[in-house]
Amino acid sequence: MNFELTEEHIAVRDAAREFANTELLPGVIERDEHQRFPAEQVKKMGELGFMGMMVDPKYGGGGMDTVSYVLAMEEISKIDASASVCMSVNNSLVCWGIEKFGNEEQKQKFLTPLATGEKIGAFCLSEPEAGSDATSQQTTAEDKGDHYLLNGTKNWITNGNTASIYLVIAQTDREKGHRGINCLIVEKDMDGFVVGKKEDKLGIRGSDTHSLMFTDVKVPKENRIGEDGFGFKFAMSTLNGGRIGIASQALGIASGAYELALAYSKERKAFGKPISQHQAIQFKLADMATEIEAARLLCLQAAHLKDQKKDFAKASAMAKLYASKVAMDTTVEAVQVHGGYGFVKEYHVERLMRDAKITQIYEGTSEIQKIVISRELLK
Ligand code: CAA
Repeated sequence: MNFELTEEHIAVRDAAREFANTELLPGVIERDEHQRFPAEQVKKMGELGFMGMMVDPKYGGGGMDTVSYVLAMEEISKIDASASVCMSVNNSLVCWGIEKFGNEEQKQKFLTPLATGEKIGAFCLSEPEAGSDATSQQTTAEDKGDHYLLNGTKNWITNGNTASIYLVIAQTDREKGHRGINCLIVEKDMDGFVVGKKEDKLGIRGSDTHSLMFTDVKVPKENRIGEDGFGFKFAMSTLNGGRIGIASQALGIASGAYELALAYSKERKAFGKPISQHQAIQFKLADMATEIEAARLLCLQAAHLKDQKKDFAKASAMAKLYASKVAMDTTVEAVQVHGGYGFVKEYHVERLMRDAKITQIYEGTSEIQKIVISRELLK
């Protein structure tokens, strides 16, 4: 067992750290306040290769492993979780989904611009009444011979307005249940596709979350991923990988909050000495650091299994379940260490605390992760 990072891994991590500190940190508080998507910054992330990190270079990607992706996600998320969710969805749901399950034509047409960051992707599974219960899709893709007629509404879609390529999950044959669901690649300029309202959120306020409406959208058959009825399996398999991204996002939120709390505890004096010299604070720092290390190991283990082409569904669900809890617990404690300063925006930890919550909800709630884990245990 080797816990050492390679020189390449360290270089990727340092590049992501440098980018986050120089490009994402300035303005992160204002973007959160005004719910402004970091458009310029995401464009630069594409130029630096962060939007298609694991994609084969022949499709414009970085050809890196999933371990590198975890390291970069952690660094970006320490500073700006709104930018990192855009990165995560593009890399591990959209790019990976098309690369793993798409055909050559789809890869040439859609994967290359997504991997370079020239275009941004969105993954459209959730509906007003189908979040955790993903088989209850109300959006329909009616088979019309050479095309599907897409009708329905999707909710809480990350990159909803910024994206131009959408992977849309829809029901074609209700009688077949989850085997009657398809995944269609929808382009933003298709007639009948409308981007709906932007959500006003508790956290990740800089990320671009919208509802989407489809009315008689004609989607060519060649835009279906996989065989007829493969859509649900596609969504589940893709989410297994996506959860490594969100687990790493949660890890980054936690480690970002911890680093701020550690630095603050050395500066702030109370009762005649830095608060880091009080055991009450030391215990908090020790708990945070230990839990973060455990979360990091789970993330890296899931990434390693995926890179080894081994089954990683359980490992990624465990990483997401645990890292998201650590993100929530650590950020709450980081605010506590900061006292009154933790409650105001300029110290960053209140934002990280708000951002942490979504990691226990999207790409499957914590309860869904437990279902995924226990299904694997009981197989
Ligand atoms: N990996 C691979 N295949 C899986 C799977 C997994 N994790 N989970 C289920 N499947 C397969 C099953 O093997 C089964 O296949 P067969 O028919 O061949 O046997 C099929 O899918 C159906 O399985 P179930 O009968 O168990 O399905 P279910 O209806 O009981 O649901 C569930 C299972 C795990 C609860 C699933 O619905 C689920 O994961 N729900 C959560 C969905 C989710 O994560 N939504 C988040 C939206 S995306 C998002 O948030 C993106 C963003 O913007 C950040």
